[in-house]
Amino acid sequence: MGGMNQGMGKKVIGLLGSPLPKGNTAALLDQALKGAEDAGCTVEKIVVPLLDFEPCMEILFCKDHETCQMEDDLTPLYPKFRELDGLIIATPIMTMGIPGKLKSLMDRFQVFFMAKYMRREPLVPKEKRNSRLALFIAISGMKIPGVFDGARATVAAFCDIIDCRLIGELLVPDMDTIRDIHTRPELLELAYRKGLELGSALSRQAPPPEK
Ligand SMILES: Cc1cc2nc3c(=O)[nH]c(=O)nc-3n(C[C@H](O)[C@H](O)[C@H](O)COP(=O)(O)O)c2cc1C
Repeated sequence: MGGMNQGMGKKVIGLLGSPLPKGNTAALLDQALKGAEDAGCTVEKIVVPLLDFEPCMEILFCKDHETCQMEDDLTPLYPKFRELDGLIIATPIMTMGIPGKLKSLMDRFQVFFMAKYMRREPLVPKEKRNSRLALFIAISGMKIPGVFDGARATVAAFCDIIDCRLIGELLVPDMDTIRDIHTRPELLELAYRKGLELGSALSRQAPPPEK
């Protein structure tokens, strides 16, 4: 309790790519978020398939502006993604990659891509650009070579676009055989520990200087 956190803890957002709030992926995410919370962070879970939004329509308004012109459930998420300190992405593999709704959310962060790489005025505040951390959790039904490759490539690109450094991964294949993740308490424990590590690393960071 060294008084490291002034006021509220560091903000961690958990993105769930599965439509099942009580499914296996959700169980791992909940454990990871619990770990981050136990490390002093403030956590929020977002069940992406339940959000109401359209895919990027390439209006490319974001080429010249800080905002996306589309107005939907992602509108209030953009400021949250400018402010967050930690991100935990947890998803099942669907058709060898990130499920469509979560992938569409990532595509809609083109507004961050344009700001960072085209206008060279990133949306993430300067003092946070080198300190934001991410964790990637994924589950696949089958145990086949390369089943996580597509998802990992997409997550790496997304983390780069929103200035989060990926510090951990938990990839669980063969879920069709395992069926219920609760029969593997060691995996739930591992998710908790990875969330705790992410949260602890964030909580250890010095608070940004007073403005
Ligand atoms: C539409 C759909 C596509 C899927 N595609 C794949 C796939 O390409 N490879 C694979 O290994 N598992 C695939 N799966 C299996 C899921 O990854 C697996 O069932 C996972 O455990 C679901 O997690 P959840 O219950 O937390 O949503 C697919 C499942 C669905 C529903």
